[in-house]
Amino acid sequence: MSQGKSIFTVFILFFFVNSAFSAHHMVSEQLPEAEGQALIDYVTKTNNYQNWPLWPGTNKLYEGQHPHGSFLTTYVNKLAFEAIEGRAGTLPKGSVVVKENYSSEKKLTAVTVMYKKPGFNPEAGDWFWLKFTPDSRIEKQGTVGGCIGCHRSVKTNDWLFTGPVR
Ligand code: HEC
Repeated sequence: MSQGKSIFTVFILFFFVNSAFSAHHMVSEQLPEAEGQALIDYVTKTNNYQNWPLWPGTNKLYEGQHPHGSFLTTYVNKLAFEAIEGRAGTLPKGSVVVKENYSSEKKLTAVTVMYKKPGFNPEAGDWFWLKFTPDSRIEKQGTVGGCIGCHRSVKTNDWLFTGPVR
């Protein structure tokens, strides 16, 4: 190999390895910790949920039921959307479901979130639970007994109510 060629090869290799590393870095950067404030920042700033698709087959402000509010809008990130559409059975690592809870006057009262974090809580689908107010105050987070107790009735559907995932 000529010297020119081998320098070129090293150069290409460097780029390849470097971009593989930064791609990996980007992926790990994209997923927040299982912690309330980090998750709020993620869904409101880093990757604003209002730009996500709605849960397949739902519209904005559909009628909901207790305890989530009279009207609901449910957003899912891309990972979750694809798994639901493909009836994957369970949602993959990094899936996020964000539900806006509205009063009967259609005023936003709370945002409830489920975030799939492998290893976080294997007994309950590895979901991290979060509830925050429209001004981003955390009301509940983590392994929340109330959320889990009720969602348990749909644990064969990966603890999700809104539609079938299998
Ligand atoms: C008494 C039962 C009950 C409790 C308690 C409850 N949920 Fe739900 N949740 C539901 C039902 C039912 C739905 C389906 C939408 C609807 O009609 O309200 C739902 C839907 C959701 C969704 C959309 C994904 C899905 O499962 O379809 C999220 C996210 C969610 N709940 C988060 C929470 C969080 C966070 C808590 C605790 C702070 C909580 N829920 C407590 C019954 C409950």
